[in-house]
Amino acid sequence: MNLRYLVLVVVSLAVAVSGEAAQQTAEDLRLITNVDHRETVSLNGDWHTIVDPYEVGYYDYRWRPSQWGFFRDEQTRDESQLIEYNFDDSPVLRVPGDWNTQRDDLYYYEGTVWYRKAFSFERREEERVFLHFGAVNYEARVYLNGKPIGRHTGGFTPFQFEVTDVINSGENSLVLKVDNRREQDEIPTVNTDWWNYGGITRRVLIVRTPKTFVRDYLIQLDPEQRGTIRGWVQLDGADPTIPVTIRIPEAGLSRTVTSDVAGRASLSMDAAGLELWSPTNPKLYDIEIEAGGRVLRDRIGFRTVRTRGHEILLNGEPIFLRGVCIHEEAPLRTGRAFSVEDARTLLGWAKEMNCNFIRLAHYPHHEQMLREADRQGILVWSEVPVYWTISWENEATYQNAKRQLAEMITRDRNRASIVLWSVANETPNSDARMKFLTGLIDTCRTMDPTRLVTAALEKSYRGADTVVISDPLGEYLDVIGCNSYIGWYDGLPDKPARVRWRSEIEKPLVISEFGGGALAGMHGRPTARWTEEFQAEIYRNSVAMFDTIDVLAGTAPWILMDFRSPRRVLPGIQDGWNRKGLISEQGERKQAFEVMSKYYQRIEAEDE
Ligand code: GCU
Repeated sequence: MNLRYLVLVVVSLAVAVSGEAAQQTAEDLRLITNVDHRETVSLNGDWHTIVDPYEVGYYDYRWRPSQWGFFRDEQTRDESQLIEYNFDDSPVLRVPGDWNTQRDDLYYYEGTVWYRKAFSFERREEERVFLHFGAVNYEARVYLNGKPIGRHTGGFTPFQFEVTDVINSGENSLVLKVDNRREQDEIPTVNTDWWNYGGITRRVLIVRTPKTFVRDYLIQLDPEQRGTIRGWVQLDGADPTIPVTIRIPEAGLSRTVTSDVAGRASLSMDAAGLELWSPTNPKLYDIEIEAGGRVLRDRIGFRTVRTRGHEILLNGEPIFLRGVCIHEEAPLRTGRAFSVEDARTLLGWAKEMNCNFIRLAHYPHHEQMLREADRQGILVWSEVPVYWTISWENEATYQNAKRQLAEMITRDRNRASIVLWSVANETPNSDARMKFLTGLIDTCRTMDPTRLVTAALEKSYRGADTVVISDPLGEYLDVIGCNSYIGWYDGLPDKPARVRWRSEIEKPLVISEFGGGALAGMHGRPTARWTEEFQAEIYRNSVAMFDTIDVLAGTAPWILMDFRSPRRVLPGIQDGWNRKGLISEQGERKQAFEVMSKYYQRIEAEDE
């Protein structure tokens, strides 16, 4: 064996024993929430990158892994050294952002890209320092100043590592190995109908905190007692029993609590006079949480959401969810969306269509989308990518799904807009799938008793034109989602008007997907597939069908905007795009947009 490799293997094995934080589990995420209102330093911008399809930066020629990666950032080189890479002279990629739409040579790339950010930092006494990643798709191995810091899998949820004892005062080198390959036993699995955008797709922040600080909290109305705020505050640090004061100044509310030895303090506040959050009045309150002389701020809306028979109740009143599905595809520029501007454009289009509800498919979207939905008064269905043919029998797959669900709930459980957590989309029934999904449903209820749990199920027929939902999972859900493409995959555009629905489950039903495709600007007879007229005809007949479903609690057409998918390869029409959008990715409204807008206008008038 070559001496160099021998040295590296020995050194690497030594390092492998130290250093890398184990991947969190759902039970011990320790995630710092509400980073928007903390002291942070942004590491967004240009990062040097090395495309590494054979992972030579991680495995030696005998395919043995080095825990710190051979692509460490060598600061000192002598001319005789054999080093076959150089970050400084390598091309840059923008962070946040997927790599597929930044470079033509990476459009279809699925594999490893190494990212390196050199930055300077001034340490302070009595502080703790964390690296926070909004999301990295799909596996991230993180190294700081040559040391392995940790690993995370899951392309749509935040994660962080404490680097208090690793970050330098002065120059630092942060290196990530990012690998977006699809694998059968991952979440999602290999089979999806969306583009596998790889990269550091959301923001990267350094978070600075006091030695003991407020890490996380739940401050929401008690769904069974609308006049009471119930929740808790979680401290993190050596002195977990310092008093914590929660204030809502505008409402004249203040409560001081003391944490237990684990840093957890329960919270209960009389909130009878609070203005309730709703789509027609998206009232947000400034919240102050003071501990150890430091004040953490947030903006929180207060509302309750429950069900009664076939109805969804918002603040005790029935509400019809006038929705639309949204993928995290950036409008106009395309690629992975990540900015508040992206969120404002997409939510603006949804509101133009008279929506009060969005289904964020099929994975947790970026945090700015949820904060913008809070501000604009739009109700949200938020979902983990437990999609189609998951490896139901694999325990590691289940733990991965459960952790991603916990990461989603932990990040967003104070967002008034979110009313539904979804644990799955169109999953084939089996005993293993039922065990897997009822476990996720339990996790939702344990972590967040204030919201409803749903999933997008598939329908079945009883006779030629009667649809029933007989999925056994329905029994465990609060709200039944059902995807139905009558008129597109199932019959022609006139079929929906003939179909009747029978719901055998006494729970609210939301048609969580429906519709069909059209190329914007393509016109012809309503019988000519891919014309706007064909798509609009599906929508007109779908609306006629909805008018016959008296237990309907909401609808969400698939989908607001065309989105990239490798499954959609029809030349001249799809070209790698799923064309079921009501709007093209360039913002061109199709005729069906108007059909939905008028339907929701009528529903809204009937609800008043
Ligand atoms: C399915 C699936 C979507 C997919 C859509 C389609 O219902 O849930 O993710 O994009 O159908 O076929 O376009």
